[in-house]
Amino acid sequence: MGIVEVRNKIYWVGAIDWAVRDFHGYITPSGTTYNNYLILDKEVTLVDTVKHDFSDITIKNIKAITDPAGIKNVVINHIENDHVTSIAEIMHLAPKATIYITEKGKKGLDRFYDTSRWDIKVVKSGDTLNIGSRTLLFLETPMLHWPDSMMTYVKEDKVLISQDAFGQHIASAARFDDELIDCESATFLEDSVIDYYANILMPFGQLIKAKVADIQKLGLEIEIIAPDHGIIWRKNPGKVLQMYLDMASSKAQESVAIIYDTMWHSTEIMTIPIMEGIKDEGLQCRVIKLRATPMSAAIKEFWKARGMLVGTPTLNNIMYPSVAEFLTHLRGLRPKNRIAGAFGSYGWGGGAVKEAYEEFKRMGLEIVEPGLQVLYRPSKEDETKCYDFGRDFAKKVKEYHKKF
Ligand code: FEO
Repeated sequence: MGIVEVRNKIYWVGAIDWAVRDFHGYITPSGTTYNNYLILDKEVTLVDTVKHDFSDITIKNIKAITDPAGIKNVVINHIENDHVTSIAEIMHLAPKATIYITEKGKKGLDRFYDTSRWDIKVVKSGDTLNIGSRTLLFLETPMLHWPDSMMTYVKEDKVLISQDAFGQHIASAARFDDELIDCESATFLEDSVIDYYANILMPFGQLIKAKVADIQKLGLEIEIIAPDHGIIWRKNPGKVLQMYLDMASSKAQESVAIIYDTMWHSTEIMTIPIMEGIKDEGLQCRVIKLRATPMSAAIKEFWKARGMLVGTPTLNNIMYPSVAEFLTHLRGLRPKNRIAGAFGSYGWGGGAVKEAYEEFKRMGLEIVEPGLQVLYRPSKEDETKCYDFGRDFAKKVKEYHKKF
């Protein structure tokens, strides 16, 4: 029970985490999976492990196929804790196995474990490992998304085991894209890919384009993409590749995300006429209230839209704390090719809108100035100004969007 054949004796032996909702701060309403793969060949090979809490499950899955003592090779594509922290248990059961890992991966592994007891071989891009009837090709993918990251390509089966890349945080009975679409929807899967990309891979767009180009140059035929989280792409691996290329090229919807917080509802009241103005210019508008919405969901909505309006009250002459937290988080993700503006209510001296623009400039976003500030409660005249502000911002978004 539990194991799934991905292709020709390449088995998924991972674990489903139905319960996780906070993945190091990233909110995962659909849970996740930790995928790892066992290849039965002359030399039995395990690619990746799982999060430590799930060691027993992957070991049980491996035992359902073979005696773990016979594992000859363990490939570690990535040393983040959700993939490597069962390594001690695996190596305890397979003490004669050789670990294949990148140089940076080994340096990291040395910090987490006493690796002197293990046989470890460092590999680099282009290195191959013959395991019998198959050849594994290693492809380093530094900073996608850790310095140690690599992928493993199973040449004869045209399977790319891609670690975090192309993954999604979805816990499901489905293991494959075609199975998920039967019980969920294509939109759910696409949205999960965008969510994952926005929160984890947004800073690395240029590297993604270069790595996909490298793979294309190598002429690798890819019929299955097997990531370390979520759904395996067997029906349409080209779809997720194209989605990644599009996102890396800053494809976005010609729409606006209003991301705001409010203290005594005045900034919130401003969002309504602003949203109406945006809609009347023909653009879709999503409104996201911070503190009521997980940070990772706000990041995803930012990423989907070409334009962002930030609403922030002034508190003690600076931005509202939740807005400041959101913008700091966003700055770390190094967003590109988005246009931004800010608005908000103030009581005494103002200052939050000015600070928001300073953050936009630090991020290198295109900006629409000036922002809009309202003293205390918006009056009828202020609401008209808000509507005009929204309309004007939407016009600028449409103009800017033509560049892409
Ligand atoms: Fe799923 Fe970078 O760990």
